Amino acid sequence: MKRRQFIQGIALGAGAASTPSLLSGCLQKPVPVAANALNIPPLIDSRDARHDIQIAIQHGEHEFYKGIKSKTKGFNANYLGPTIRLYDDEDTRLRFTNNIGEDTTVHGHGLHVTGMVDGGPSNVIKAGETWDVTLPIRQQASTNWYHPHLMGKTAEHVHAGLAGFYWVEDKNSQSLPLPKTYGVDDIPLVVQDRTFIDKKMKPYSVTAEQIMSGLLEGTPVVNGTVDAYVDVPSGWVRLRLLNGSNARFYEFYLQGEQTFYKIATEGGFLETPVPITKMFMAPGERNEIMIDLSDGQTQELMAVFRAPSADDESLIFKEKKRILELRPDTKLNVKLKSKGTLPKNLNVVTPFKPEWKREQASVTRNFMLNMEMAENATQASKHDNHAMHHMLGINGKSMSRDRIDETVKKGDIEIWRIQVDEMLHPFHMHGTSFMILQHNGAPPKAENRGWKDVVVIDEGVTEVIMKFDFEATKKDPYMYHCHILEHEDAGMMGQFTVTLTGEK
Ligand code: C2O
Ligand code: CU
Ligand code: CU
Repeated sequence: MKRRQFIQGIALGAGAASTPSLLSGCLQKPVPVAANALNIPPLIDSRDARHDIQIAIQHGEHEFYKGIKSKTKGFNANYLGPTIRLYDDEDTRLRFTNNIGEDTTVHGHGLHVTGMVDGGPSNVIKAGETWDVTLPIRQQASTNWYHPHLMGKTAEHVHAGLAGFYWVEDKNSQSLPLPKTYGVDDIPLVVQDRTFIDKKMKPYSVTAEQIMSGLLEGTPVVNGTVDAYVDVPSGWVRLRLLNGSNARFYEFYLQGEQTFYKIATEGGFLETPVPITKMFMAPGERNEIMIDLSDGQTQELMAVFRAPSADDESLIFKEKKRILELRPDTKLNVKLKSKGTLPKNLNVVTPFKPEWKREQASVTRNFMLNMEMAENATQASKHDNHAMHHMLGINGKSMSRDRIDETVKKGDIEIWRIQVDEMLHPFHMHGTSFMILQHNGAPPKAENRGWKDVVVIDEGVTEVIMKFDFEATKKDPYMYHCHILEHEDAGMMGQFTVTLTGEK
């Protein structure tokens, strides 16, 4: 038997054996086994805070395992940061004080704000200094996040724990009958993978090979909790998932292949809930899902651990791991302000209506995400440490802060055609949300017909359409990049401006 066939045999066998209906008869739900109560990041509601919020970026010692401290970083915390609730049409002042002893930035990933306040590589917060920034929120309800974006340091800073949620609410999200009691039936979930040595988190470090593959680690961590469970009311539960990993891709599912409903992508609600049994998520992506736990039985959110390389063996040895155990308990129902349900209609998603068409785009741009230029650079990096940061690129060029790659005219609708020369790459851009026009020659699946800001590019052409309504100047340009953080840091990133004239 050839090695390849052997491997495929194993993969098939593993898949069949883990189908619960074959193993244990129908409707057998898991029994509670997870060890640690899920950490829920504190909520800061911008209204309660009178639209003035202070955050310290700090070193921490976080207990992933009880009683064992790991060296980490966080926002007002040992690890990760508060969920900050913002409202459409309201401005919030944030003051980020940098206490980590080295430069960083705080990017609002998914926010439609100008380059001046976007927190990209130009908005450096020096050690000991405070970044005083006002974020005018002008966008629909959506689950966004914040994380550092310093050139060459993003992967390390995020890995240490610097990430948190920005939740945008609007009139629609507040009036929909969805679950909305924070941390009870409306639950933030940052999913990451980490390596533990003697139950301590292995600090960030990568080899040249790991820069290419992305840093792929083995243990799932949710909100900084290893082996997590959460007590929830019995009924509908809303999970706001963020893949906050450096490079890991996940395929989420529920035990017994229970159907769940996707209600939102990165940039807002879908038109209607879409029933699914599995959900693929690349780094940087967010999705909101609804799970019906009214039968009161323990359920498990599982994930197949995937790698971004199509011929990587880890794709074949797809490991299934428990991400979170959900324990419904009717006693918790008293904690709810109101009992949430799954509405039939959620949103109006304009570009899929006749009024916004492909013909309205005034510019089409082409992007090729390059791995192949890395070969020479890998050789060079042995002699020159600096070259490590210039191995990968877009359109044949490695990221340079001194070069503006694209100039967009404010108010324009554009189509971006994106391709890769190798592997899978989650493409992200700042300053707006887009719609997928086509993915490998096909229109997007129902569950992806919503506003997004990260899209996985694989073997074919992916086209996205979007409008640029906010300004980014040469001094504070927007970024577009691969959201595998090792790739971003190694140069798979470009800069663009959005100005009234569309000139540099
Ligand atoms: Cu989440 Cu440019 O980043
Ligand atoms: Cu971003
Ligand atoms: Cu990439």
